Amino acid sequence: MTTAGVWHPVALSASIEPGSSAGTHIDGKEFVVWRDNSGAPHVWEDRCPHRGMKLSFGFVRGDHIACLYHGWQYDTAGQCRYIPAHPELDVPGSIRVPVLQTVETAGMIWMATEPTESAPPAPQETGETVPVRSVFFGAAIDAVLAAIETTPSRPFSDEAAAPVLRQIDGRLY
Ligand code: FES
Repeated sequence: MTTAGVWHPVALSASIEPGSSAGTHIDGKEFVVWRDNSGAPHVWEDRCPHRGMKLSFGFVRGDHIACLYHGWQYDTAGQCRYIPAHPELDVPGSIRVPVLQTVETAGMIWMATEPTESAPPAPQETGETVPVRSVFFGAAIDAVLAAIETTPSRPFSDEAAAPVLRQIDGRLY
């Protein structure tokens, strides 16, 4: 049975180099996107189970990501494997970070909100990913769209504006 997880693009592949991490948020929830040294991407909740530090502030060592605060290390399944203050401790299996289903395709890293058997949306047309800047508007979405659509001197063509407007409208095609 297929479940109802929704895929979200969370990072450009080129932005997350092996051995690096970055923070992002979707619908008000924070996530760490990181790539282990073998190149595999991971998306987890951005919260260390110890004292809640953001794991996106941490550092990657091989196939572990380590928290910046007290150095607890987590393997690629989210399981804590090493606590520096107790190096001999066999870490309980209950100390783990919630991990999300992650796929890399079309030049992007995607996460699913719930486990799903579906694939992320296929890339449009050429399949190329063109990175653009994020822009913050302190206004209602309808006002932003109306302003863009009625601006006579906007610096891009209608054709170029179409995908921009779709993104602003909060939908992914
Ligand atoms: S808060 Fe992460 S190791 Fe302490």
